[in-house]
Amino acid sequence: MCGIIGYVGMRDAKKALISGLQTLEYRGYDSAGIAYFTEDKIKTVKTVGKVSCLKEKVANEAGSDVTNCGIGHTRWATHGGVSDTNSHPHTAGRVTLIHNGIIENYKELQDELAEAGKYPVSQTDTEIAAMVIDHCYKGDPEAAIRMAISKLEGAYGFCILFSDIPDTIYAVRNGSPLVAAHTEKGSIIASDMVALVSYTKHYFVLKEGHIAKMTSNDILVKDENGEIFSPYIHHISWDMAAAKKGGYDYFMMKEIHEQPEALRNTIRPRMVGGLPDFSADEVGDELFTDINRIIITACGTAMHAGLIGRNMIERLCRIPVTVEIASEFRYQNPIMDEHTLLITISQSGETADTLAALRLAKERGSRTLSVVNVKGSSIARESDYVLYTHAGPEIAVASTKAYSVQVSVMYLIAFRIALVTGKISEDEAQNYMTALMSTVDQVEEALGYDAQIENISKRIAKSESIFFIGRGIDHALSCEGSLKLKEISYIHSEAYAAGELKHGTISLITDNVPVIAVVTQPDVFAKMISNVQEVRSRGARVILITGADATVDAALCDHQVVLPETDPLFSPFVSAVVLQYLAYYVAVEKGLNVDQPRNLAKSVTVE
Ligand code: M6R
Repeated sequence: MCGIIGYVGMRDAKKALISGLQTLEYRGYDSAGIAYFTEDKIKTVKTVGKVSCLKEKVANEAGSDVTNCGIGHTRWATHGGVSDTNSHPHTAGRVTLIHNGIIENYKELQDELAEAGKYPVSQTDTEIAAMVIDHCYKGDPEAAIRMAISKLEGAYGFCILFSDIPDTIYAVRNGSPLVAAHTEKGSIIASDMVALVSYTKHYFVLKEGHIAKMTSNDILVKDENGEIFSPYIHHISWDMAAAKKGGYDYFMMKEIHEQPEALRNTIRPRMVGGLPDFSADEVGDELFTDINRIIITACGTAMHAGLIGRNMIERLCRIPVTVEIASEFRYQNPIMDEHTLLITISQSGETADTLAALRLAKERGSRTLSVVNVKGSSIARESDYVLYTHAGPEIAVASTKAYSVQVSVMYLIAFRIALVTGKISEDEAQNYMTALMSTVDQVEEALGYDAQIENISKRIAKSESIFFIGRGIDHALSCEGSLKLKEISYIHSEAYAAGELKHGTISLITDNVPVIAVVTQPDVFAKMISNVQEVRSRGARVILITGADATVDAALCDHQVVLPETDPLFSPFVSAVVLQYLAYYVAVEKGLNVDQPRNLAKSVTVE
C-alpha cells in the first residue's frame, strides 16, 4: 500500500527513483512524485496518474537537474482524494517526506498545529506528519523525528529530507515495511525488496522505532535509545529476472505459469525420506503436540488458502480449526490460550490486520506459526515459528502463485500434525507426500488449458453477475475463484456453498447468468449435480469443472472443463489454475489492466 523509495549515492537519483517507482507501482497507482536535492535545495515534482505520467513530467520540468539524493512515492489514496496536491512528497517548512501508512490521530494533531497558526494545504494525514516533524525540528533531525513519532498514532514508513541537511535521507517506521541496503554506489531504501534487487541481494529490515540516517557513504541505524544498532543482513535468492514480465503480457500470466516451480520449491525442501518434515525450518513438533484448537487467520486470498487448510487439518488430524478474517478476529475478543495454535497466512507478511491478529494471539499466550512469502517481513519476524513459501516475488495485485504455495504449506502442516499425533502412519504420510508432489505435474498439465478457458471467458465477459458454487474444498476454492474474478474483471460475483444457494440467492439466477460449478469431490458428486440441475432449470449458463472420471449429462451444462486426472484430495491445486485463467481472460477480454486493478494495492498495510 503505497510504494516508497529513497536513494543517495553516485547515480542519477531521478532515474534511480523513477525506475524504483516503476517496480513498486503495484503497491498503489493513484499518483506519484519525487523530491530531490539539487543545488542544495529540495525540488518536488508530483502528479496524479501512474509513474509513466510522473516520468514525463520530470523529463519536461526537471530534465536538466543534477541530483544524487532523493525520495519517491507511488500512492494508494487513503486520506484525501486523488489530486496533485494530495500526492506525495509533502513539504512543511524544512521537512519534505513520503509516507506509507495512516496517521490515525491526524485530526487532533491538526487542531494542535492550528493553535500554533499552522495549516495544511492538502487533505492528507501525511502532510500533518510532515508539519509535526517540522514543528519539532530545532536543528537536530533525529531528536525531531523521535519527538514527532512519540506524538503520532497509526502506521507509518517515512523517508524524510531536511532542507538544511543536503544529500541525507532519514527513515523511520511503525507497522509499514522499510528495507534498506548500502552498496558500492550508494544507499537505497524502499517499501519492498523488488526495488532493491537490481542493486543488491543483501538488505536489512529497518526495525520499528529505529531511525536510519542514509548518506552516500553509509547507513547509520540507531535504536529507540539513540544507540547505534547493527542490523541483521538478509540475502535474497531470486534475481531481477523474477521481478520482470519475461515475455508475458502481464505479471499475472507469468505468475500463473510459475506455479509448478513455486510449488516444487516450497514442497521439496520439506520432504525428507518421503515424509513431511519442518526441521530445516526449525519448526519443532512441540508446536503441534498438546494443542486442542487451531485458528487460522488471514485476509483475502490468503484467508481462502486457510479455508482449504482447515478442511485438510480437520480431515486428517481431527483437531477443531476455525478460519477467521483477520480484520474481524481481533475485535471478537477471541477465546484462546497456550493450547491454541494460531496460524497466520500472508504473502507480503505485512498485512496490517493479519499482523494485529498475530500480536493479539501472542498477548493471549497462544503459539504462533506463520506462512509467509517475504523473508524478514513483520509477520515472519514476530511469529514464534515461520514456514516460508518459496513463490519468489509476486507483482500482480491478484494473487496466484502465492495462493497455491500457501495451500501446499497448509497440506504439509496437516500431514505433519497428523503424523506426529499418530493420526496417520508413516506409510500414509509418504503416500500423501508423493501424491502432493505428483499433483504439481497435473498443475503443469492444466496450464495447457489456456485456449479452452479463453474461449469460455469470451462468452461470459459481458455478464453483470457470475456465481461460483461448490461443496467442501470446492467451495473454498470457489471463494478464491470468485474473488479473483471480481478483483480484476469488475464483474459482480459471489461464491456459494452449493447447497446454500436455494436458501435465498437462487432468486438471482435467471436466463444466461453464468454459474461456475466446481465438482471434483466424489463424496458430494451426486449432491452437486442436483444443485447444478437447480440452477440449470432456472436458465443459468453452467460451466462445470469436473474431475477426469466424472460422467455428466451434456444437457447439464454449456461448457465442461475436465481436469487432468488428479487425486480429488489435491484437486484445488489444479482447479485453481482454471479459475485463475478464467479471471485473467475475462479481464483481458474487457480490455482491463490485469496487473493493476482499480482501487487496489498489493500489500495492505493499513487497517
Ligand atoms: O499479503 P497478504 O497475503 O497478507 O495479502 C492478503 C490480501 O490482501 C491478498 O491476498 C488480496 O486478497 C489479493 N489481492 C487477492 O488476489
